[in-house]
Amino acid sequence: MSREAKRTTVLEVGDDGVALITIVNPPVNALTADIFHSLSESYEQALGREDVKAIVVTGAKGIFCGGFDIGGFGGQKRQEEQTKPGYTSVDFFTDGLEGAKKPSVAAIDGVALGGGLELAMVCHARISTPTARLGLPELQLGVIPGLGGTQRLPRLVGLSKSLEMMLTSKAVEGTEACSLGLVDAVVSPNELLPTARKWALDISQCRRPWIASLYRTDRLGSLKDTRQILKFARSQVKKQALNVKHPLICIDVVEEGIISGPQAGLWKETQESQQLQKSYTTKCLVHVFFAQRGALKVPGITDRGLMPRPLNKIAVLGGGLMGSGIATALILSNYSVILKEVNEKYLHAGIGRVRANLESHVKKGKMTEEKLERTMSLLRGVLDYESFRTVDLVIEAVIEDVSLKQQIFAELEKYCSPYCILASNTSTIDLTIIGERTNSLDRIAGAHFFSPAHVMPLLEIVRTRHTSPQVVVDLLNIGKKIKKIPVVVGNCTGFAVNRMFFPYTQAALLLVERGTNPYRIDDAITKFGMPMGPFRLADLVGFGVAIATGMQFLEKFPERTYKSMLIPILQEDKRAGESTNEGFYQYDQRRKATADPDLEKYIEKARSISGVTVDSKLVNIAEDDIVEMIFFPVVNEACRILAEGIAVKAADLDIAAVMGMGFPPYRGGIVFWADSLGSKHICSRLDEWSKMYGDFFKPCPYLAERAAKGIPLSLSSDQANSRL
Ligand code: COA
Repeated sequence: MSREAKRTTVLEVGDDGVALITIVNPPVNALTADIFHSLSESYEQALGREDVKAIVVTGAKGIFCGGFDIGGFGGQKRQEEQTKPGYTSVDFFTDGLEGAKKPSVAAIDGVALGGGLELAMVCHARISTPTARLGLPELQLGVIPGLGGTQRLPRLVGLSKSLEMMLTSKAVEGTEACSLGLVDAVVSPNELLPTARKWALDISQCRRPWIASLYRTDRLGSLKDTRQILKFARSQVKKQALNVKHPLICIDVVEEGIISGPQAGLWKETQESQQLQKSYTTKCLVHVFFAQRGALKVPGITDRGLMPRPLNKIAVLGGGLMGSGIATALILSNYSVILKEVNEKYLHAGIGRVRANLESHVKKGKMTEEKLERTMSLLRGVLDYESFRTVDLVIEAVIEDVSLKQQIFAELEKYCSPYCILASNTSTIDLTIIGERTNSLDRIAGAHFFSPAHVMPLLEIVRTRHTSPQVVVDLLNIGKKIKKIPVVVGNCTGFAVNRMFFPYTQAALLLVERGTNPYRIDDAITKFGMPMGPFRLADLVGFGVAIATGMQFLEKFPERTYKSMLIPILQEDKRAGESTNEGFYQYDQRRKATADPDLEKYIEKARSISGVTVDSKLVNIAEDDIVEMIFFPVVNEACRILAEGIAVKAADLDIAAVMGMGFPPYRGGIVFWADSLGSKHICSRLDEWSKMYGDFFKPCPYLAERAAKGIPLSLSSDQANSRL
């Protein structure tokens, strides 16, 4: 049966006089126009029947409701949720449901997100399971909560908490929701419906209060407090949410309801929502939402019906920064992990790093001491391979030394079972070379985490042409289980993310050698929305890594590597980035970066080695041009990655850029952004710069061909060919 055919609500009236209305729209019971229509019909029936005293609303299969159908946002195929002509879903919620003559109780398991929580909040009470997740995450899609969400949440949990929940898009679990006053009771899944039914009857018989949350004011503070909280929220948003306007609009709408009353708030919410749903920001963020889920679908791999195998025991090789971060991510998701090091001292240090990672969770209040100890008990340190005989997956995370890795993989083959997956966390080295001394190429893959591995969301899964589809399916599954966002890419130097990152730093070095101020570059790039500019990032990563990676690229792609000596010159002078307190910036004891006037002399030296001269156009270059000169080479590299089949679809590169590079999600990802500017514009600018500044900027054939035909870069080759 198609998803379309299942969209409905089911009404069942029990002998107790309670009508149970169940939303049925797999997989997450999203709210569509059909669901609204059916919900309103079910309500009408329940309200009209004499044998019905009260109503319970729930969702099928343990999921209350995942909110509005996101496919309808961003000017895509917006459906008007009119339950009957002239009667909108807002009217239905406020008058038909909250103002009905019979009380409703929401029975919440799984999730009540966005429209789902908005529906629950118009009910007269809410019962949930302890693990249900409730939240208004609309802002992460570029819209604001609708259907009165901006009005009811502050009235249920107070202004501060409601703003925090809306502005961060973070959900709370049932138990916390209960202590906040968002739900009235928490019960086990088995007890959920009986408790909700009883609660609804109690309300109808005046044994419990009949509350319309829209008109509550007891959780709202004084006007003075309100103004202060709103002022603080606005100042935070102005600092954190660059280039988007919906978070400030959300605060305005909340304010309107508190100052001028809930009806005025509802009206403003409706007006603003309608505008925002059509906005370009929403279109970009919705693209990222679906691209993220699409990345889990790999043609030829995930469409074969292969079931992921249970991987219970995992070994991590190397307890350095990466290895300990990976081990942390795994034990945090309840995996049993063996951490191997070469001697006691390193092992002790590695386990110490894992503990320190968990301790930072305790400090932030995300974990109790007791949970820390329980989590640490999942980790066992070893110095040899004996216990590797029973592991299901090994993740190697030693230094980037090809022959060391080759030796390790040859050893692993001897000790591990023939079904054990042998993965490497290498960030640049070709995996077939790593596995050269084994007969196990079919079970060798890359599991490339980003530092710090227990925090950064992306997991690049690298498959070679030998890697079996089962191994990829298993790694995708484990990636999801440890709450990473996995993207499957092919095998090459730098894979997808580092390959795209490389021209980012290179373009910046080229500009600086020709006269652009490095701090202006970082400034323009952070204003564009990157978390940090290329020079601040190079300082953070450290010049040792930057030089080692640079060598790999120079070896593999000499024709398009810009050979600047600036970083090696700084390194020679013991300025290796943030770790040495000096790099492109100077750092104080609190790691605050400030511009360094001394930098100019290093730039001049590098300039004279490269033999280039200052170009007045680049000295006075406009900020928009800086952004284009830094990012168009990244787009060019993304095109090569697509042309070579390293990424199977453009949307995967969008996710890799957003999750791995910190590219602003509200621009939709690197290729999505490029398509918004047009392949023609990008190609002609690259062409112009390649004539002035060399082959580093030369458009690749994929880009040139698409520009010539005016075809978007994101179209697959098949789609593009059919358009030619
Ligand atoms: N509208 C339309 N489709 C939705 C959806 C929504 N609100 N929420 C989830 N889906 C779809 C996903 O696209 C995915 O489709 P696919 O199987 O074709 O890829 C499917 O439902 C399962 O979602 P997924 O995220 O893979 O499952 P999960 O169990 O990891 O997470 C949720 C479930 C509900 C927590 C998560 O999907 C989510 O956060 N959804 C967005 C909720 C939201 O922002 N609602 C506010 C809108 S008003």
